Amino acid sequence: MLEQQTGIILVAAGTGERLGLGVPKAQALCGGITLLEHALSTCLESGVAVHTCVVVPAGDTVLRDIIDSVTGSHQHRGIVTTVDGGASRPESVRAGLAALPSTISHVLVHDAARALTPVNVFQRVAETLVQGAQAVIPGVEVVDTIKSVSGGQVTGTPSRANLRAIQTPQGFSAGLLRRAHDTPADGHITDDAMLIESLGIPVNVVEGAAEAFKITTPQDLILAESILQRRHP
Ligand code: CTP
Ligand code: MG
Repeated sequence: MLEQQTGIILVAAGTGERLGLGVPKAQALCGGITLLEHALSTCLESGVAVHTCVVVPAGDTVLRDIIDSVTGSHQHRGIVTTVDGGASRPESVRAGLAALPSTISHVLVHDAARALTPVNVFQRVAETLVQGAQAVIPGVEVVDTIKSVSGGQVTGTPSRANLRAIQTPQGFSAGLLRRAHDTPADGHITDDAMLIESLGIPVNVVEGAAEAFKITTPQDLILAESILQRRHP
């Protein structure tokens, strides 16, 4: 049997419009180091991948220098490569997929913006793939009541017990993820699992972590800073 070879695609090619710092979000500082350093260090520390491909904005040099310094200062197995991203997240994931060698059998796709994701979430996702799952995503219970709304009116209230807020890293068999990204999709694609669902393939959910929240707004950065304070007072 072919040995399982896992790769990570770390997407960091967004502009960070909502954070509003005027630099790509991956360059934002949190606890004195960039979000990219937090995220890449965790990818490497998790030990799950033989190849990590970081997707950065086209033409960027700042993030590439950061990647070199993180890669040089960590004990890790496997290699780290960098590739230019696209105009949307799915395009950036596709650029990462194209850059991974064909020997990679499983892929974890992770948002650099989820910079404080604990190592154990990576390991949970990777282990579920080892056990034979084709697609696995981390999720946490939601605290709010979520309603669907159309034209300013409520159209439904799904039971909160069945809802999960979905995070990354999301893990897939590489062939399946390539097929999903090659299939034309309608609407706004906000995660990779959506593409797998539309192929009718089961997606497993494992426990995520509160700290894996996506740093999107200035308030999120304040929360992230205080989480780091608690980790390293
Ligand atoms: N991403 C990417 N390429 C894009 C857009 C997003 O690699 N063209 C990545 C981001 O770098 C981030 C993740 O996808 O790690 C989730 O996206 P989001 O949180 O929306 O980040 P940004 O697009 O940078 O933020 P904004 O939408 O506020 O501009
Ligand atoms: Mg975005």
